[in-house]
Amino acid sequence: MAEAKLIDGKAFAAGLRSRVAEGVAALVAEGVARPGLATVLVGADPASEVYVRSKGKTAAEIGMASFDHRLPAETTQAQLLELIGRLNADPAVSGILVQLPLPRHIDTTQILLAVDPAKDVDGFHPINVGRLGAIAAGAPLDFPVPCTPLGCSMLLADALGSLAGKNAVVLGRSTLVGRPVAQLLLRADCTVTIGHSRTRDLAALCRTADILVVAIGKPELVKGDWIKPGAAVIDVGINRVPGAEGKTKLVGDVAFAEAMKVAGHITPVPGGVGPMTVACLMYNTLQAARRAAGLPFVAV
Ligand code: GUN
Repeated sequence: MAEAKLIDGKAFAAGLRSRVAEGVAALVAEGVARPGLATVLVGADPASEVYVRSKGKTAAEIGMASFDHRLPAETTQAQLLELIGRLNADPAVSGILVQLPLPRHIDTTQILLAVDPAKDVDGFHPINVGRLGAIAAGAPLDFPVPCTPLGCSMLLADALGSLAGKNAVVLGRSTLVGRPVAQLLLRADCTVTIGHSRTRDLAALCRTADILVVAIGKPELVKGDWIKPGAAVIDVGINRVPGAEGKTKLVGDVAFAEAMKVAGHITPVPGGVGPMTVACLMYNTLQAARRAAGLPFVAV
């Protein structure tokens, strides 16, 4: 059997970033204020520092203003709320991203609630979660949608065209990825099932999937014989495991070499979904700046 076609998230994300950059330049040429992204990092988690740096760098590369707020791990909830209040009120800030996870003494729900839903470029505010939960099939995504799920749905639409009528299985029920991915696939007229750690027979469920999105955080959980021949497989997992010569390597939640022999399309790790998250954050920030200027939603 032929090998799966690789879904090149790195290349798609580069194209999306350049379309967003054109959108930014067009706004500025119309005399609208330059879109601005504020990132907030509390503490010094090394992985979070890498992500936040990459967000700020990408914003600058595509012509947005970038405001980088680093707060010590012992920052209080009141201090963080005060900063968010200032960013909400600042017209130079189109989008606000509070990097998760937050230190344990901070109530994440209260922080997400404090971000102005119009500036919530992560799509994590309950108002935006509710909008996605209530969306009609095919209705425009003219509000902030979580970046990784949006990236998954863009890659699927690009690889397959219409998703209507397909059986989609999403492994993982997190509020950051699994649930919003399922909502986006429903909007695209898929028949959607969510599998999770308590599902009776994950392998059998996966074999029903024309589209399989895996966001369960377990290295190489999904084996080749879990995959329906010809299925499209989107691997959201990023797991560090021991590699050759004492080094670590990155693997997804799907056993890639086995899956390649069965799937029709598949995302690699790295270079699949990962680069889409930051590109979609830039897309959400451009859309937030357009809305703030009273301009209509345009898909780019
Ligand atoms: N931590 C891991 N992924 C994300 C994300 O998409 N947004 C935020 N704010 N924090 C994260």
